[in-house]
Amino acid sequence: MRITVIGCGYLGAVHAACMAELGHEVLGIDVDAAKIELLSAGRAPFYEPGLPELLTSASATGRLSFTTDISRAAGYDAHFIAVGTPQKKGEHAADLTYVDAAVTSLAPHLAPGSVVIGKSTVPVGTARRLAGIIAGVQPEAALAWNPEFLREGFAVQDTLRPDRLVYGLPDGDAADHAKTTLDEIYTVALGNDTPLVVTGYETAELVKVSANAFLATKISFINAIAEIADVTGADVTKIADAIGYDARIGRKFLNAGLGFGGGCLPKDIRAFQARAGELGADQALTFLREVDQINMRRRVRAVDLTRELLDGSLLGKKVAVLGLAFKPESDDVRDSPSLDVASQLRAQGARVVAFDPQAVENARRLHPELDFAESAADAARDADAVVILTEWREFRDLDPAEFGQIVADKRILDGRNCLDPDTWRAAGWRYRALGRP
Ligand code: UDX
Repeated sequence: MRITVIGCGYLGAVHAACMAELGHEVLGIDVDAAKIELLSAGRAPFYEPGLPELLTSASATGRLSFTTDISRAAGYDAHFIAVGTPQKKGEHAADLTYVDAAVTSLAPHLAPGSVVIGKSTVPVGTARRLAGIIAGVQPEAALAWNPEFLREGFAVQDTLRPDRLVYGLPDGDAADHAKTTLDEIYTVALGNDTPLVVTGYETAELVKVSANAFLATKISFINAIAEIADVTGADVTKIADAIGYDARIGRKFLNAGLGFGGGCLPKDIRAFQARAGELGADQALTFLREVDQINMRRRVRAVDLTRELLDGSLLGKKVAVLGLAFKPESDDVRDSPSLDVASQLRAQGARVVAFDPQAVENARRLHPELDFAESAADAARDADAVVILTEWREFRDLDPAEFGQIVADKRILDGRNCLDPDTWRAAGWRYRALGRP
């Protein structure tokens, strides 16, 4: 198939490279010339394991190219819309400016029989509206909605081997052609027996936001239990293990700690509530407001615990912050709880020196006032306390005895419950965590 991918961010760049890897001829399109220049040179504009290798091999085979010129989409069979849908400034609703711009600029170049395939996470009802825009310009093109479930850090494997595919198809005759096109694009996954759900636009749009709302709820549920564990001396990690053995519950997404962040879960649960309100069904999702509030309280709790760890005052204390990305294996700091806590610690008087294996550059852009170190050891030198905010493997693997020789005082906050408290305490550290005695 000849495919374009419009929007080459965390989602689109990975999707373009993976589609080329699967044997399709792919043109990535983005309005950001700097990004296109990097991608054209076979370089990833962000950190994503496995992506650089795919970009170099796909560019080498000539199956993958990039451009800023949307008119080059003419003549391609399928066009993925993979642009961002951030939260609107000062509101909870999703900002659809980029999706609308992508579709309206693409529409005049659509060939009869081509299929536009939406991947971006959108409020329910968007696909039907976009289908109307396309029909007004090229009535012989179709729109399908095919939500993406990739996780940053595992984006390549999630795209090459998805755990399910969802096709939201148009009504009427156009459905068959859209389905055949999607089947051809996903031949490899379908050959591997990937479960396929075929449905209409609204259901496909809702699958995506429901999945993210459920994941966010699971995390906030365990973080609410962590609050109770904190006032009772119970251990939330043991509770998660024990309830997780019940196959109906499952252990995944029950890690209590600083809570969720990133470019998806926080804004998606807010946009979902806003959309429910517009549809007159706001009561259905009021629990998501609670999910959001529990999540935001984690950050306050982490700052309070750091203060407690420092005997009641952050003023003038050197705090080594380990981890700034919203999760490990990513350089993404969008709505990162870790970066937020680092900045709050500084605002409350601590001397913060932060380190992250990948996210320092992005963090510096948002918070130039913070001090950044070149390594975990550099950050921790002579620190009064160490706080682990993103559970990168290199932090989980720290040797408490060796690390204890660098710091001024052996005090540590484990913001992600990723260390073994007994080992750290045995090495002389004062260890605190969220939801653990
Ligand atoms: C998420 C969804 O998982 C993915 O399916 C969707 O396509 C996009 O949104 P992503 O944002 O990459 O993916 O990250 P994810 O791995 O889901 O983690 C989200 C946040 O939750 C991170 O900040 C992470 O630290 C936090 N988290 C995750 C927890 O606090 N506890 C957990 O048990 C799991």
